[in-house]
Amino acid sequence: MGLAACNTEQSALHPAGSDAVDLANLFWFMTIGGALVWCILMGAAIYAVVGKKRPRSERFADRFVFVGGVVFPTTGLAALLILGLALLPDWAEGDVPDLRVHVVAEQFWWRLDYEDADGMAIASANEVHLPVGATVEFVLTSTDVIHSFWIPTLGGKMDAIPGRSNVLRLRPEKAGVYRGVCAEFCGSSHALMAFPVVVHEPDDFAAWLAAQGQPATAAGAEAFLAAGCGACHVVRGISDAGSVGPDLTHFAGRRTIGAGTLPLTAANLADWLVAPAHIKPGVRMPSFATLPDDERQAIVDFLLELK
Ligand code: CUA
Repeated sequence: MGLAACNTEQSALHPAGSDAVDLANLFWFMTIGGALVWCILMGAAIYAVVGKKRPRSERFADRFVFVGGVVFPTTGLAALLILGLALLPDWAEGDVPDLRVHVVAEQFWWRLDYEDADGMAIASANEVHLPVGATVEFVLTSTDVIHSFWIPTLGGKMDAIPGRSNVLRLRPEKAGVYRGVCAEFCGSSHALMAFPVVVHEPDDFAAWLAAQGQPATAAGAEAFLAAGCGACHVVRGISDAGSVGPDLTHFAGRRTIGAGTLPLTAANLADWLVAPAHIKPGVRMPSFATLPDDERQAIVDFLLELK
């Protein structure tokens, strides 16, 4: 608990969304309740060992067993069940969310498609942006194994399962930068499958989404294209064929590379191009160590222009 307090951007105990507030309250209720029960039991145990031996009537013993063994567990568990059931999603079929984000979990990154006002998808990856105060619906699936999408500061987690769509709704209530993670073991780089979550004021979010919808304008794509990067990655307006790796159209606007693995800096990006599997075991991105240094640097320069 002490260590958890060191980092609030990924803490379920520092909620920034309505579901996370409910979950944190349930956590504290259960923790305090559990601590009370533990104290009572320990008190009884200590009393039984060191307390004065006094003869008890059979009636007292019967009552003790009935209250301690039947009434208390039944009411306690029923109260917890009711509190837990109250946290089930309360939205009805047909409720329309303010924003829908399609999430495809892949080993070991997140493909994201935001629906704009016209229902058109805007592709992005590995960094979730949300408006404060909006009901956001994530439609989750996977292409390979089971992953789980979890933003602890905003609410509970939901599995991303191949062949089906799971729906998770969250309502961010505090602007800020948080951290989401994959919460289901999915392979060697499960622990390196994270993503920053940026919660904007509504106007800022609208501006961000509009900018994401624009094609890339950066110059200097020659090295990127010559190295074949476009076979896997889309940079809208420059190379539209790739579908294997993350969309890089506005890559330079993101905070991290490798799905939350390293901060996005020129040095980290150069290291990533040389040996991605060193940074992230099991990654499908090949090494570009054989490229001449100046060509690799040209790719880095180009990617950092993709604002
Ligand atoms: Cu994806 Cu763990």
